[in-house]
Order: sequence, then C-alpha cells, then structure tokens
Amino acid sequence: MKILIAGAGGQLGRCLMRSLASHDLIGLEHAALDITRLEQVRQAVSQHQPDLVINAAAFNLVDDAERRVHEAYAINALGPRNLAIVTAAAKIPLLHVSTDYVFDGTLGRPYHEFDLTRPLSVYGASKLAGEEAVRVLSRRHYVVRTAWLYWEGGRNFLNTMRVRAANERLRVADDQFGSPTYAPHLAEAITRLIVTEAWGTYHFAGAGGASRWELVREMCRNLGLDEPLPVAASTFATLAARPRYSVLTTIQDPRIELPRWQEGVAEFARGSLEL
Ligand SMILES: NC(=O)c1ccc[n+]([C@@H]2O[C@H](COP(=O)([O-])OP(=O)(O)OC[C@H]3O[C@@H](n4cnc5c(N)ncnc54)[C@H](OP(=O)(O)O)[C@@H]3O)[C@@H](O)[C@H]2O)c1
Repeated sequence: MKILIAGAGGQLGRCLMRSLASHDLIGLEHAALDITRLEQVRQAVSQHQPDLVINAAAFNLVDDAERRVHEAYAINALGPRNLAIVTAAAKIPLLHVSTDYVFDGTLGRPYHEFDLTRPLSVYGASKLAGEEAVRVLSRRHYVVRTAWLYWEGGRNFLNTMRVRAANERLRVADDQFGSPTYAPHLAEAITRLIVTEAWGTYHFAGAGGASRWELVREMCRNLGLDEPLPVAASTFATLAARPRYSVLTTIQDPRIELPRWQEGVAEFARGSLEL
C-alpha cells in the first residue's frame, strides 16, 4: 500500500515510519507539508497519489493551548478537516489520531469508544473538533484515540522524568490516572488496523491503567533509579485542567489490543540505555 504520513517527524510519525516499512511510504514532516494549508494538502495528495493518508501531526502542548487557542485549533481541528476534505475527494481513506483528553475523567471506569465526550481543556476540545470533522467529511476513516504517549526518542512526560531523575528525587502525582502508551506499540496496532477497512473509532492505548506516579515508579525500577515520591496533582499548578481518570479500554471489532503498559516501560528503559 502507498501511505502518506503527515507529521512524520513527531514521535508517533517516526515510529510509524519503522512499523510500516514494508509499505511504500511517503513521510512528510512539518516543513514539507503544513496540514493547516488546504492547498498544500491538495498538492501533496495529487503529487503522491497515496492509497491511505495517516495524520500524525498535532499541537500537543496541553498548557500552551489554553493561550495559543487559534494555533491549537488550526493544527488539531482545521488540519484534520483539510485532510478529510482532500482524501474524501480523492476517494482514499484517512487515519487520524486523537486523545483521551476528549473525556472529562469523571466516569469512574475505563472509557470505551462509544462513551460520551466532554473535554476539559482547549487541547481536548480542539482534538474533539478534529475527530468530528473527520467523521463528517470522510466516510472511510479510522479515528484512533491514544493516551500518555512516550518513546525514548521523543519529547514526552516520561523522557522528561527520566532526565530529571538523574539529578533529583522526583515528586509525581498519584491521583491522576491514564493509559501509558509506548509509541512503537501504538504504531504496531495502527499497522494492523489499516488493512481491516473496519472504519470507525478505536481506543489504542497500553493495557491496564496507572497513575502518573505508578508510571514513573515503574520506569525508575527498570532503570535502577530512586523511586519518586507520591504527591497530589494539585501540587503542580497547570494552566489546563486534566481528566482525573481517563484510562482507555476498547470494545471495538476487530479487537486490537496493545501490550500491558509495564511492557512498554520495560522496552522504553532498554531503549533509553542504548541511546
Ligand atoms: N504525546 C502524547 O502524550 C499524546 C497523548 C494522546 C494523544 N496524542 C496524539 O498522538 C498523536 C501523535 O502525537 P506525538 O506525541 O507523536 O506528537 P509530537 O511528537 O508532538 O509530533 C507532532 C508533529 O506534528 C508536527 N506538526 C505540528 N504542526 C503541524 C502542521 N501544521 N502541519 C504538519 N505537521 C505539524 C510537529 O512538527 P514541528 O515540531 O516541526 O512543529 C511534530 O513533528 C497526535 O495526534 C496527538 O494529539 C499524543
């Protein structure tokens, strides 16, 4: 299959370039394709004639989004809308990636694909607007929600904690729960999904939930570092509100499940020792 990946320079984009290596890949980084520009998207699709487009581009700075509202919506909502318009016109499918932050975290059990959304932040609302544009404009779509994405080669919470743990005793929130997801595991699940033609919304995240503290403690154990101290999330003042409990589960068919989140942390630890 010929696959065009927008946002190919991000952590998921780079993992997809590896997982999908047996396909004919066109990986376009931000400088080569700005998804907020409809004409650029039209030009890229008409030049490369892909069989599938994957959107791995996003504005992911959750706190910054509260102030950079237009930029967040341009990249997270207008961008996928542009991709959906162009792929629908070219009669090709679109895979778009979204987030657990479309939920408010008050449900009290893991969220499945059909649960009601109610974002708490500009980031979450802009990502939800992007999902909705894709659903409305592209009949043949996959919307893949993921969460707490990390990879040793990327810019993410766990990598920040790993670097800081070398110099200080970490304090990490033990009252915020989510689904830590190792980006190469997500890329492998997407690689399996794209051949199914089972259009719809999917939750792809590391299996089993964890608090931020449990996640960092697991990393520290794997790397032989001091365990973090558990503290309340309210210890850290943040601009954006985050869901307290946004663990993801899946009830979709075909059921594609990722490994348990602890397996991802073990791979992350091995990978970061090799850096
Ligand atoms: N990271 C997480 O914890 C997390 C959690 C839940 C869901 N997700 C979702 O997972 C997906 C992948 O995230 P990620 O962590 O791989 O993100 P990432 O590492 O931040 O990569 C995003 C990429 O998008 C590019 N980009 C930004 N604006 C663009 C534009 N207008 N046109 C084209 N490319 C643009 C960025 O390039 P520049 O840096 O050069 O601007 C960057 O390479 C996103 O949909 C994200 O919302 C992520």
